[in-house]
Amino acid sequence: MYYPDEFIEEVRMRNDIVDVIGNSVHLQKKGSNYFGLCPFHNEKSPSFSVSRDKQMYYCFGCGAGGNVITFVMEYENYSFAEAVQYLAQRAGMELPRQEYSPEARRQADLKGTLLEIQKKAATYFYYQLKSSAGKAGYEYLRKRGLSDDTIRSFGLGFANPYPDDLYRYLKKEGYSDELLRESGLVRIEERGAYDKFWNRVMFPIMDVNNRVIGFGGRVMGDGTPKYLNSPETKIFDKSRNLYGLNVARRSKKPYLLVCEGYMDVISMHQAGFTNAVASLGTAFTAQHGLLIKRYVHEVILTYDSDGAGVKAALRAIPMLKEAGLSVKVLNMKPYKDPDEFIKNMGADAFQERIDQAVNGFMFEIRNLREQFDLTDPEQKTEFFNRTAEKLLVFEDELEQNNYIEAVSREYGINYDILKKKVGAMGNRAGLVREAAIRPKSGIQKKKEREDGIHQAQRLLLTWLCEEPSVYARICDVIEEQDFTEDLYRQAAVLLFAQLREGKPNPGEILSHFINDEEQYREVASIFNTKLKEGMTKEEKNRAFRETVLRVKKNSLDYASRNVQDIAQLQAIVSAQKSLNTLNISLD
Ligand code: UTP
Ligand code: MN
Repeated sequence: MYYPDEFIEEVRMRNDIVDVIGNSVHLQKKGSNYFGLCPFHNEKSPSFSVSRDKQMYYCFGCGAGGNVITFVMEYENYSFAEAVQYLAQRAGMELPRQEYSPEARRQADLKGTLLEIQKKAATYFYYQLKSSAGKAGYEYLRKRGLSDDTIRSFGLGFANPYPDDLYRYLKKEGYSDELLRESGLVRIEERGAYDKFWNRVMFPIMDVNNRVIGFGGRVMGDGTPKYLNSPETKIFDKSRNLYGLNVARRSKKPYLLVCEGYMDVISMHQAGFTNAVASLGTAFTAQHGLLIKRYVHEVILTYDSDGAGVKAALRAIPMLKEAGLSVKVLNMKPYKDPDEFIKNMGADAFQERIDQAVNGFMFEIRNLREQFDLTDPEQKTEFFNRTAEKLLVFEDELEQNNYIEAVSREYGINYDILKKKVGAMGNRAGLVREAAIRPKSGIQKKKEREDGIHQAQRLLLTWLCEEPSVYARICDVIEEQDFTEDLYRQAAVLLFAQLREGKPNPGEILSHFINDEEQYREVASIFNTKLKEGMTKEEKNRAFRETVLRVKKNSLDYASRNVQDIAQLQAIVSAQKSLNTLNISLD
C-alpha cells in the first residue's frame, strides 16, 4: 500500500457511502438504513443494505459487504490503489506524492502493474499492424471486411513472427521476468523467453472500464489453434468479463446480443449493432449473467447455428434466467454465425432476425421436440411428459400458465390435460424435497453450538456499533479478549478503542482488512448481525443480558480449558460463580 493511512481514511470520509453506491444502485430509505437490489447477486426483493452511520454496505442475501473503498473495488473491478484514486478524484482531492520508489510501488500494486503491461503490449501490437512489418495482418483484417475505423476502435493489432519480440520490448520498459510471466504474455523457459503470441492478428480484450486485460490472437489462415487466448491472470477472469461490453454498455438498446466470437462482435458493431458481446472461448457462466444484469434485462443469443452453437445456447439459457434476465434466441440459418450472416445478408436482414427471435423456453422445447418422433404415440407421450417437467421451472403461477398455453398451442396438446399434469408433478417434487431433510447428526449439533457462540459475539459487536451507549454497561464485564474467534477479537480491539474515544467507526475498521476479500466481508457481517425487530423493552433487556452472559461464559470456559496454574483456575472459577449474580441491563 503506497498511500499513507491518513490519506486513505480521509478519502473514505469524504466519500459518503450512500452517495457513491446510490449512483449505481437504486436505494430506498427504510429506518436508519438504505436498501436496494444487490448488485453482486440476483434477487427480486432488496436485501442489500447501506448504512450512513456505519459507512458500510452489507447484503443479507449473499454476504457481500464492506466499506466505500471495497465497494468500488468490487463493483468496478478496480485494484485497491485504483479505487482510492477514483474516490480521491471524486471528492476533488489531490493525490499525495508517491513516497516510494517505482519498484516498491509496483510490488504494492501488482494488479495496476499487470494492467500497465497489457496496455503497453496492446499499443505495441497496434503499431506493428500499422507498420510495414504488419502488412500481412492488416491485409488479412481488411480482406475480412473490417474498415480502418473498426480496426482502430477495437485496437486490433499484429504480433510479429519473431519469437521474443514483445518480450524484449517489455524488458526494455523495465519489467521483471517474474512480472512478465504473470502477465501471461510471455513464457519463461530454461533456454530463454518466448512470446505467447506470434504471427497472429491480435484482439485486445477490455474490461468494462476500457482497460486491456488480455488478448485473443488469430492465425491468418488455417493453422491451429485458430484462436489463442491469454491465460487467466490476476486481472483476467474469463467468467467475469465479456468481449465488447465496454462499448455495448453504452448502447441505448434495452437488450444485449450475446455471441460466440471476436469476429462476430466486431462485425455486428461495424454494422451498427453496438450492443453485441461475446463470452470468450469459455462457456457462459452465471457470473456473466450477473454482469449483464447490471446493464439490461434482456439477452438475445446469437450463437452459431451449428450443433455446438445450439448446445451452447441450451446451456446458457438457464444461466441467464438464473441471473434474472429474459432470453430470446436468434435464428441465423442458413449462415453459420453473425459475421457470415451480415456479410451475406446485410444489416437490415439481421435486424429482421432480431425482431423474430424466439423466446428461450420455446427454443428449448423446440430442441427437445427434435429428439422424438411425434407420429409414435409412446414417444409423443414421453415428449409431453418431459415438457411438463420443464414447465416446473416457473415459480410464478401466471407465468407458468402463459407458457402452458403457448406450448399447448404450438404442439397441439390439450391445455387442461397439460396443466393438470404440471400441477401433479409440482406436488410430487415438493414432497421429495421435504423427505430430503434428514435428522441432524452429532457433528451438526456441535457445529450449531459453535455457531451460537459466534452469533452471540457478533450480536454484541453489532449492538455496540449501533447503540454506542451500551459500551458503558458492559465495559466492566466484557473485554476484547472475550471474543474467542480470532477475527472477531481483532475487530473488537479496534471497535473498543473507538468506543473509548467516544464514537464507533466501523467503516474505518474495514480498511484494516481491505487486503483480504474474505476477511473484510466477514468483518462486515460481524457489524451487521440482525437484531430482532419489534421487541418490547423487557424482551430487549433480556436478550441483551443473555448475549453478554453467553459471550462471557464461553470466554471463561475457553480460558479454563487452557489454564496454566491453580491460581488462574481459581480466578476463573470465581468469575464463573459471580456470573450468576451479575446484574446487567440496558438501563
Ligand atoms: P469459431 O471457431 O466459431 O470462430 O469460434 P469464429 O468466431 O467464427 O472466428 P472466425 O470467423 O473463423 O475468425 C468462436 C470463438 O471461440 C473461441 C474464440 O473466442 C472464437 O471467436 N475460440 C475458437 C478459441 O478460443 N480458440 C479456438 O481455437 C477457436
Ligand atoms: Mn466466423
